[in-house]
Amino acid sequence: MEQLPKDETIALRNKYIGKPCQLFFGQDPIKIVRAKGQYMYDEKDEAYLDCINNVAHVGHCHSKVVEAGYEQMKLLSTNNRFLHDNIVICAKRLVETMPEKLNTCFFVNSGSEANDLAIRLSQIHTGNKDIITLEGAYHGHLTSMIDISHYKFSLPGGIGQKDHVHVASSPCTYRGKYNTLNHKLEDICDLYTEEVREICENIVNKKGTGVCAYISESMLCCGGQIIPPPNYFKKVYAHVRAHGGLCIADEVQVGFGRVGTHWWAFQLQDVVPDIVTIGKPMGNGHPVAAVITTADIAESFRKTGVSYFNTYGGNPVSCAIANAVLDVIKEEDLMGNAIEVGNYLFQECLKLKNRHSSIGDVRGVGLFLGLDIVKNREKRTADPEAASFIVAQMKEKRILLSVDGSKNNVIKMKPPMVFSKANVDEVVSMLDRILEQLEQTSPLSRDTDKIPNGVERKV
Ligand SMILES: Cc1ncc(COP(=O)(O)O)c(C=O)c1O
Repeated sequence: MEQLPKDETIALRNKYIGKPCQLFFGQDPIKIVRAKGQYMYDEKDEAYLDCINNVAHVGHCHSKVVEAGYEQMKLLSTNNRFLHDNIVICAKRLVETMPEKLNTCFFVNSGSEANDLAIRLSQIHTGNKDIITLEGAYHGHLTSMIDISHYKFSLPGGIGQKDHVHVASSPCTYRGKYNTLNHKLEDICDLYTEEVREICENIVNKKGTGVCAYISESMLCCGGQIIPPPNYFKKVYAHVRAHGGLCIADEVQVGFGRVGTHWWAFQLQDVVPDIVTIGKPMGNGHPVAAVITTADIAESFRKTGVSYFNTYGGNPVSCAIANAVLDVIKEEDLMGNAIEVGNYLFQECLKLKNRHSSIGDVRGVGLFLGLDIVKNREKRTADPEAASFIVAQMKEKRILLSVDGSKNNVIKMKPPMVFSKANVDEVVSMLDRILEQLEQTSPLSRDTDKIPNGVERKV
């Protein structure tokens, strides 16, 4: 199809696409027409280095993944009421990456659907309704998911907190309610987990029921690239289970080997959730997602006599694509790359932090990293304007980053897993120059009106 001029694309989008649909760099949006590996190309064939697209997990438009979809689409695309090898092979392979008791799959089309089904399974299995979620969490766009996404429902125009939803503090040791400024590091984990225990107790005491589920990303993305302290999940899971609830690990963003040492980020804390939800990277851009749970939980669902049907979930094309993604992760040792390049990225960012007082904190595992941008390092005062400035300037240099977190001041990196050390050098040297420029201008003299919108949080 012939390309429309960019102006015309903007005009048509303004006219026909719902206004709440967010556009990156709103005042100067980018029109991407093709992508390969870790690069995206605009209509003038200018290359942008993609540091944020964790969906294109094995690299944009990987030929093996594209061909798997094409070949299967030529043969058959139907629903999973028919027997097909792709779905059973995909389920077997996913289960093989999980701890033993997580042995049963349900296929869906998106992370939102996966989390919705996880909540439904939890309600059925426990008979309870109350959900514990985290401050700053985002779990999807369905009504049921907005209810438990503090990131959305707590906005000034949001729907507010429902009676069955309970919000625990985000377990951030740098900027959370309990942090290393006001507490000893070794005490912080217990303070956060104790809060979850109290929420569980309150549910039991006030409502006379048990907990339905606790849901959390294994590392928090929208919440500001947060890595919970060691043992956090072990303690939280024990409290939730003692009060009748199930533990859901949302791996929609951080799964599929991004942490390098393990397939799933929850494995970093040596816990076994009751339900794991996966999506985004699973199809490398094709919509496919899944829920992995225990045979017991699936059995509770079966006993209701209400069967599960999803028109597209687990169709042969989606499963062919997911199988190809699993192949490529192995064949190209992308988890090894996440360890090597991720460690390098982390070390280089620490050096950057030593040179620039605007970086308050560097946190990361594998190819998942956050830079907490501050006005004052001692007080840890968040600097959202500076973070947006940096992202906007990086975009001018054709490097794509994004900003998120409760204070909108955390620069996120979660690039395709083919990211290289040369890419790290490029990003870090450009950040170095931009931070220097930033620090030479006092915040008051920075003309923030002229700063184009960065790739901002999904509000
Ligand atoms: C942690 C997390 N869970 C679930 C979702 C929802 O996934 P989807 O947009 O595929 O419905 C998202 C989307 O950004 C997410 O970040």
